[in-house]
Amino acid sequence: MRHLLSPLDFSVEELDNLLNLAADIEHNPDKYKEICKGKKLATLFYEPSTRTRLSFEAAMLNLGGNVLGFSSADSSSASKGESVSDTIRIISCYADICAMRHPKEGAPLVAASRSSIPVINAGDGGHQHPTQTLTDLMTIKSLKGRLDHLVIGLCGDLKFGRTVHSLINALVRYPGIKFVLISPKELRIPDYIRQDVLEANSVEYQEVEHLEDVLGSLEILYMTRVQRERFFNEEEYIRLKDSYILNSEKMALANKDMLVLHPLPRVNEISVEVDDDDRAAYFKQVQYGVYVRMALILTLLDISVNEPGN
Ligand code: CP
Repeated sequence: MRHLLSPLDFSVEELDNLLNLAADIEHNPDKYKEICKGKKLATLFYEPSTRTRLSFEAAMLNLGGNVLGFSSADSSSASKGESVSDTIRIISCYADICAMRHPKEGAPLVAASRSSIPVINAGDGGHQHPTQTLTDLMTIKSLKGRLDHLVIGLCGDLKFGRTVHSLINALVRYPGIKFVLISPKELRIPDYIRQDVLEANSVEYQEVEHLEDVLGSLEILYMTRVQRERFFNEEEYIRLKDSYILNSEKMALANKDMLVLHPLPRVNEISVEVDDDDRAAYFKQVQYGVYVRMALILTLLDISVNEPGN
């Protein structure tokens, strides 16, 4: 039995296989529409979500399976004090696979240690968000044609943004990647990512505060929102929340084929006027998220379309 707790749980070869499967699902959805008949996915969301929870549910329904779960800690027995360890033992009796989002870093790891079904980390605090990373990788591969030799700007809240941490972890394994880390000094990338991931893998990177200074050099710009829910101090959040606002004027400084990605939800960091720019890929990214989660469910359940009976 396998879990997905970090993007590093899959080798580069396994990731390639998963992305190829997701692409086949995109182009041949009918092949897969009954493949999970009789299987159940549980979504255990202790934190709010629109995309991750609903795209997991859509993914399982597209595969012919069923879904159950809760969308907030308040509507589960966590509100009565039940532990993650106990909850996963219960859910293991009800479902074949589960996706868990939790505000505490490491909660899905604890769940996996007690689980008899595959556990997928759907975001744990400010730590990791590996299925957003799979979504981002599929978007980049589909729209740029490769995952190597790219200059990628990561902009916004690099301190608390778990999607950024996961994406860096995944991309350092591909050759020729250069990161441009764009943030206010208060929201710089954590030391453990800088030292243990970027420097340990000899990956080229630069840290800057001004987006305009580097826009023209980027092939991908990954925007992120300032993560209000991770701040201890509301005044600090208010001071930093509009550090970056990507608008048409700034897009005029960018390469004509630079892609703009964003894990969403957006707040103010991308003006709606950018949505009509051909380089805006963040809504396409959402659709890729469904295909890649379908591929992930099949991979973790070890279900193949070529199996007898399918
Ligand atoms: N990208 C993402 O995790 O969005 P949600 O918080 O809506 O799931």
